[in-house]
Amino acid sequence: MRKIILVANWKQSGTKEQALVWVNTVNQKKDLLRTAEQIIVCPPLVLAALVAQAVQEKGLPIAVGAQDIDNRVFEGEKNTGEVGPNLLADCATYVIIGHSETRKNRGLTDENVAQKVALTKKHNLIPIVCVSEIAQAQKLLRFHEDFDGIIAYEPLFAIGSGNPDSPEGANNVASQIKEIFPEVTVLYGGSVDGDNVKGFLNQEHISGVLVGNRSLDPSFFLEIVKNA
Ligand code: PGA
Repeated sequence: MRKIILVANWKQSGTKEQALVWVNTVNQKKDLLRTAEQIIVCPPLVLAALVAQAVQEKGLPIAVGAQDIDNRVFEGEKNTGEVGPNLLADCATYVIIGHSETRKNRGLTDENVAQKVALTKKHNLIPIVCVSEIAQAQKLLRFHEDFDGIIAYEPLFAIGSGNPDSPEGANNVASQIKEIFPEVTVLYGGSVDGDNVKGFLNQEHISGVLVGNRSLDPSFFLEIVKNA
């Protein structure tokens, strides 16, 4: 049976206190966490080690992901200020790559996305590559023919807008992604909430969701977990 993946992407939000409240609140409701689901929480990097330790101490079946890695890291080089994949080993299993906000704000190219994917392979991290259009998946194919990680389809109009894609529309793009990469797990992201999550998960080609706004407040996120 396929495992449903629920990703909480806190983006540039969260304090130490909020992070611990999140873990404690989820722990109080841990009967909602089903073995058929993989929850991945992606805090800002400064909180990742803290969250990883907190979920481990509570024995929660939750994995931690980073929101990005640097692609300009070469073995043996000194890179002040950059976060290379070597730094994530202790605190993250997954890493989001090519989120539309990083593509836009950091001028990330498809080649940079591919470089980051190569780095995740080398450092045993599982990439969650975000694409806002099918062309970005086609570009990934040029560099990584055998990509078998996770791809999150996140249309630009749906991110943070309260205006999600339709489940059928998202499924259509997910099926095209699967034609390109038969082995990938496809997620949908963009204004997912507790009310609409099931509609996406009911689709044949969608195996999970990537959640932004509704992920930092544990009560909203638990609503998604409950209804998934
Ligand atoms: P949203 O963000 O859930 O706030 O739309 C999703 C994302 O940016 O990954």
